[in-house]
Amino acid sequence: MNDILFQPVKLGALELSNAIVMAPMTRDRAGPGDVPTDAMVEYYRQRASAGLIITEGTQPSPAGKGYWRTPGIWSDDQIAGWRKVSDAVHAEGGKIVMQLMHCGRVCVTANKQDASEVIAPSAIACADKVPGPDGVPVATAMPRALTTDEVSDVVEEYAQAARNALEAGMDGVELHCASGYLPNQFLNPNSNQRTDKYGGPVENRIRFPLEILEAMSGAIGSDRVGFRISPFNPYNDMQDDDPKATFGPLLRSAAKLDLAYVHLVDIAGMLDFVDENYAGTVITNGNLKPDKAAEILSRGQAQAVSFGRYFISNPDLVERFREEAELARVDREHIYTGESKGYTDYPLRDAAKDQEYSRSRK
Ligand SMILES: Cc1cc2nc3c(=O)[nH]c(=O)nc-3n(C[C@H](O)[C@H](O)[C@H](O)COP(=O)(O)O)c2cc1C
Repeated sequence: MNDILFQPVKLGALELSNAIVMAPMTRDRAGPGDVPTDAMVEYYRQRASAGLIITEGTQPSPAGKGYWRTPGIWSDDQIAGWRKVSDAVHAEGGKIVMQLMHCGRVCVTANKQDASEVIAPSAIACADKVPGPDGVPVATAMPRALTTDEVSDVVEEYAQAARNALEAGMDGVELHCASGYLPNQFLNPNSNQRTDKYGGPVENRIRFPLEILEAMSGAIGSDRVGFRISPFNPYNDMQDDDPKATFGPLLRSAAKLDLAYVHLVDIAGMLDFVDENYAGTVITNGNLKPDKAAEILSRGQAQAVSFGRYFISNPDLVERFREEAELARVDREHIYTGESKGYTDYPLRDAAKDQEYSRSRK
């Protein structure tokens, strides 16, 4: 009945063997120098039966880091580390794109490994607390407002990060334009009080994300670039009295760029809004179950559907959905900590396969 979930689908240049996408999830397990570890290689390899994996948020530059142990894509070692991840996923027949996450003001300085500055559109701190190195939420740092020239430099950092991602073997990139991170901070009139061409009226506030999407498209091809939005979600101090006034124009302008997809964080009230404003491919997400996901795909309101938490605890999620099998529960204590525990130790459903799987790892 939910056959549509298992049909191949094309998102721009990305050819997926099924419509089930692994949503990006920060797991705080990068190694020294923000380099992907062997455990990360294994974690993504285990989940390669997804039609597409979107990696955890990855910083395009040192200043983009706001959380503890998130990986980067700006150094040679990081590129080499990610190359192992993409090779492992491709060897299993999967596809993988990298989510580029610049945290901007959503930053606890103690989470960084260097002295890089905390920057934002305006010198206005994020009122919400953010987890520090021990996972306990603390106050964020006061950011410095970027100068107009510096904004162009950050746009170029994203373009370079997209090139680096391709060099690391990724199939594409996703701009994290949701959840209160830097591009979202430019969109929101409360966090963006600039008076230059990046602030004020909506056409100025949407300029920064659009310039990034154009620069990344120029660097790697627009059909390998996606972006993620969460217009109605106040997460990370993103309250907005009239989000449609900003996100309508953003979606309509982005639709002209011929991108691979737009990826929604949560669907409440969003599918119709996106339908009306975005003539392009959509990945939907948020608390979905297979029946509901299949129904949305059948209606044509999205072409693919992403799952987050289910993929943490069910590496073989696609097979479990196909077989309508029981789903394992997430070990909440080890979401952001525990190295291999609660990360690469979730078993496959089929015990015989599980043994084969551990043998192949010896
Ligand atoms: C542990 C965890 C980390 C997450 N990290 C990110 C992230 O780095 N980037 C992002 O866009 N969303 C992130 N999210 C949101 C997920 O991508 C997804 O939107 C959310 O889990 C809802 O989907 P679900 O109901 O299928 O879990 C994260 C979610 C979880 C549970």
